[in-house]
Amino acid sequence: MKILGIETSCDETAVSIVENGHNVLTNVVSSQIKKHALYGGVIPELAAREHLNNISTVIDSALLDARIGINDIDAVAVTKTPGLLPALLVGVSFAKGLVSSLNIPLIGINHITAHMFGALIDRESIINDPDSYPVVSLIVSGGHTLLVIIERDGNCTVIGRTLDDAAGEAFDKGAKILQLSYPGGPLIDKLSRFGNVSRFNFPRGLCGASGNFVKPENRLNFSFSGVKTSLLYQLKEWDFGWSELGQSVRKVIVENTVPEGKNRNQSQNLMDYLDMIASYQEAVVDALVMKTMSAVKDRNVKTLIVCGGVACNSRLREKLKIEADETKVPLIIAKPEYCTDNAAMIAGLAYYQLVSGEKDDLDLDASPSIKRIEQIPLNI
Ligand code: KG4
Ligand code: ZN
Repeated sequence: MKILGIETSCDETAVSIVENGHNVLTNVVSSQIKKHALYGGVIPELAAREHLNNISTVIDSALLDARIGINDIDAVAVTKTPGLLPALLVGVSFAKGLVSSLNIPLIGINHITAHMFGALIDRESIINDPDSYPVVSLIVSGGHTLLVIIERDGNCTVIGRTLDDAAGEAFDKGAKILQLSYPGGPLIDKLSRFGNVSRFNFPRGLCGASGNFVKPENRLNFSFSGVKTSLLYQLKEWDFGWSELGQSVRKVIVENTVPEGKNRNQSQNLMDYLDMIASYQEAVVDALVMKTMSAVKDRNVKTLIVCGGVACNSRLREKLKIEADETKVPLIIAKPEYCTDNAAMIAGLAYYQLVSGEKDDLDLDASPSIKRIEQIPLNI
C-alpha cells in the first residue's frame, strides 16, 4: 500500500511516498528557512503562503522521483496537529482535495507521534519485537521537548515535558542572543566543535545542580529558560567587538576551521565566543541526557529512541551513545533526514493507523495545539 504524506506544520513543505509503512519511495523537503531567516524566526502567514506556492510542485517532484502516477496512490496522510494553524490548514485542505478527487482514504496525523515513528521508520524489527518494549522516546524539536513511554500495545504516556522553552527554542533563542542567524541549532552545533565545553558554567535546568532542590514531580521535566537568561547576562559582561567577530565567525562556519585573528585580541575574542557557545550547548545537552537516562533507569526501559530536529545535534548524539552503552540500553537516534520535519514519518505512521482502521472524513480539522499524544497503533 502506497501512502502519500504531506507535512506543512511549520516552515518545510514536505511530501513523501511510503510503501507499507517503511519502504520510503521518495522524501522531498522544500525548506523556506531562507525566507524566515530575514525575520529571525518563522512567520506563520508567510509560511502558509509559501506552502501554498510550493505544494503542487513538491507533490509533482515526489511522484516523479518515486516514478509513479497520482493514481497509484492508495491513501493520503497529512499533519493535522500541532503546528502553526495557517500552515497546517494548507496541507489539510490540499489533502482533502486530493482524496476527494481520487476517492481514497484520508488519514490525519499527529506530528509529535510521527516524529517518534521517524526514529523507527527503518527499524521495522524493533516495532515487531515484544522485547523492545517499553520504549522511552525523547522528542526534541523546535516546539516540543517530551519524554514519552511507548508500551507494546502502542499506548503512549508523557512522563516528562518542558515547563517553558523547548530544547530547539533554547538553541534558536540562544543563537539570536549570540547574534547568529535563524535557525540557530545547526550553527551552535557547528561552532561548538571549536570551543571548550567547560569554560563557562551555565545552569542545567531542574537537574539539581548546585544543590538546588528539584520537586519530585519535576524529576523528568525540563526547563530551558534559565540557561538562556544566563547566556544573556554572561554576554553582557563581554565586549566582543561584534563587527570584527562576525566576520571571523562566518569564516569558521564556511571554512570549518578557526582562522588566525589580525591581532592577539581578535583571536582571543573569537576563542572566548566559541567557548561560550560550546559551554551553552553543553548545558542544554546535559539536561536532555540526564533526564532521559533517569527515565530509562526509573522505568526499566528496553529501548531508547530519540527524534525531532534537535536529535541532529552531534554532541547530544555523542553523549547519549556513551550513556546508553554504559547502561546497556539499545539506542536508536532517528537518521538526520527523519529528525527534522519530513513527510516520510507522516506517511509511514499513517500506514499503521489505516491498517488498524483509523481514518478521517472530509471534516478533518487542523489544530495548532496538541491535545494528547495518541496511541500509536503499532500492534497490527
Ligand atoms: O523537528 P523540527 O524540524 O521542527 C519542529 O517540529 O519544531 O525541529 C527544528 C528545531 C530547530 O529549533 C532547530 O534549531 C533544531 O531543530 N535543530 C538543531 C540542530 N538541527 C536542527 N538543534 C541543535 N543542533 C542541531 N544540529
Ligand atoms: Zn517537527
